[in-house]
Amino acid sequence: MTTVVTAATAATGRTAGKLVVGNWKLHGSLAGNQALLGALIASPVLSAKGVHAAVCVPFPYLAQCQQVLAGQVLAYGAQDVSAETKGAFTGEVAAPMIAEFGAAYAIVGHSERRTYHAESDATVAAKTLRVLDAGMTPIVCVGETLAERESGDTNAVVTRQLNAVLDALTAELAARIVVAYEPVWAIGTGRTATSAQAQEVHAHLRALLRAKGEAVAAVHVLYGGSVKPDNAVELFSMPDVDGGLIGGAALKAEDFLAICEAGLPR
Ligand code: 13P
Repeated sequence: MTTVVTAATAATGRTAGKLVVGNWKLHGSLAGNQALLGALIASPVLSAKGVHAAVCVPFPYLAQCQQVLAGQVLAYGAQDVSAETKGAFTGEVAAPMIAEFGAAYAIVGHSERRTYHAESDATVAAKTLRVLDAGMTPIVCVGETLAERESGDTNAVVTRQLNAVLDALTAELAARIVVAYEPVWAIGTGRTATSAQAQEVHAHLRALLRAKGEAVAAVHVLYGGSVKPDNAVELFSMPDVDGGLIGGAALKAEDFLAICEAGLPR
């Protein structure tokens, strides 16, 4: 049987507009997803020019996304991927398997993976390569803890995390990634970075990307951490904030759509 891979719906570069990605984390059910996805694709917001949206779902729901989102502008992806491609790795899910379900994206290096599964920078770099090799777009997460911010180490931490990935990639491959800045202290806490705090780190990340070439500097740099409808416009107005990676607010169609709307050109 030939497999048709439709992993080509990833937004290409910040000039294509804002990118808003929902990270469902460990939430969902077939019935609940059907209702949520149905409400999202029924909205005209997602077809508007200048904003691209995607949802990153638990692995078992990729098949449902492939079915429900066929022919729709809403892209989808996974929340993690194995650093291996195949073999005796019980419980792992490989990038080519995810791509077979038409996924455009896979998140790598989320702080919850780094913290609860002890993922190192080297593992995150390996995962990024696997996602690219499978023709998908990796969403590479970086971000400091509260202790690291308070001790003035924010830039050093995100530099180490991003450069571990960039060093493993050619400039051509690096131009195909998406970066997400997610300060750990802002995730699920309701405590968001101010737009100025976000912009400062995003500008720093942009400079690291630019050191790899102008095409790499043009990748999307998303902000994540308690993005809600009432702070999205302000965050998205920052020159180096190219969209958002949304946790809790991505589970309610109304909120996710309002955040996507905040990404429209204004
Ligand atoms: P919250 O939006 O729930 O803070 O989660 C952010 C996040 O971790 C997205 O990956």
